[in-house]
Amino acid sequence: MRQATVYIDQQALQYNLNRVKQLAPTAKIVSMVKANAYGHGVKDCLAALKDSDAFGVACLEEALEIRELGYEQPITLIEGIFSDDEMQIIIDKKIECVVHHQQQLDWLRAHKDAYIAQGLKVWVKLNSGMNRLGFKVPEIIDVINALKAEGFTCVLAMHFANADAENHPLNDQQREQFLHVKEACAPIMGSCCNSAAIFKWPELNFDFVRPGIMLYGATPFADRSVEALDLKPVMTFTAEVIALNTIQAGESVGYGSTFVAEQEMNLAIVSIGYGDGYPRAFPKQNYVSIHGQKTRVIGRVAMDMIAIDITGIHAPIGTEVELWGKDRLVDDVAEANGTIGYELLCRMSARPVRKLA
Ligand SMILES: Cc1ncc(COP(=O)(O)O)c(C=O)c1O
Repeated sequence: MRQATVYIDQQALQYNLNRVKQLAPTAKIVSMVKANAYGHGVKDCLAALKDSDAFGVACLEEALEIRELGYEQPITLIEGIFSDDEMQIIIDKKIECVVHHQQQLDWLRAHKDAYIAQGLKVWVKLNSGMNRLGFKVPEIIDVINALKAEGFTCVLAMHFANADAENHPLNDQQREQFLHVKEACAPIMGSCCNSAAIFKWPELNFDFVRPGIMLYGATPFADRSVEALDLKPVMTFTAEVIALNTIQAGESVGYGSTFVAEQEMNLAIVSIGYGDGYPRAFPKQNYVSIHGQKTRVIGRVAMDMIAIDITGIHAPIGTEVELWGKDRLVDDVAEANGTIGYELLCRMSARPVRKLA
């Protein structure tokens, strides 16, 4: 059987959840499990994240999957509902919504009594400069005060555009607007911290923190490694050596013949490619790990195969090669590919076999 395997380390996930608890001891934790738990597989991840206070997802379908798996914690739809007919379903299934535009408010008000009777909170989204979703200041103050007067329990919600950046001027603007609205609408619960903000601004943890990438053991920062953040990688992505070749100086390998050997070298062909979610671009040299030994990827990544340099390395057919995981961090693979760990994790294909570590 072709071996392209994704191992999920549930203990690492629990470790990372505990890191959130250490960093935000008084806040409730809304574990972000959208996009199939950042590509890790929501079922296995929920089992490890079962002590979370709540879950965050991007759409109703993702929320219903959590309910079908039997979890009863609150769930927040971070983009709210997309059409009126979703409102009755979320009320029945006890799913909470963000509201970020007038039409969503109308839909909510049309179901006011049932929504409130289920004990559901409304997450009112502030647009403080990211300019994706939300009401701006001062409109949001009227929106929240009206909802409160109607009997809704509200959470002021915001998302930082540059929480990963050290000194971005928008951070101050967003923080100030959030604090201003929170005061103008007091008392109100608040939530504005994703992973990077949890690390950087403990004073902004408030009632709910919303960790995503840190749970999965990848870094939200360009310049702080998971080791420095004391997080453990959850996903290990591996494949096997399926063929061995020796090529001479002047010979090339793979599509486009982009790599030409300067001297004799030993290659291993590994059963992994972009059809599995392994990226193809690699503007920079990429590496894999064989039992902790780093070696380079040679030539182009194909749909099902890559070539790696095993000159001087013992790697017979069947040897396991780590594409990313604990030895070769997904953050480093992402960097070589001109992207971020988030993207590589989320775009895993369905083809690799999934196993628990
Ligand atoms: C509204 C919201 N909150 C929290 C998160 C989690 O962010 P991160 O994965 O950087 O922790 C996201 C992710 O995109 C989000 O959209």
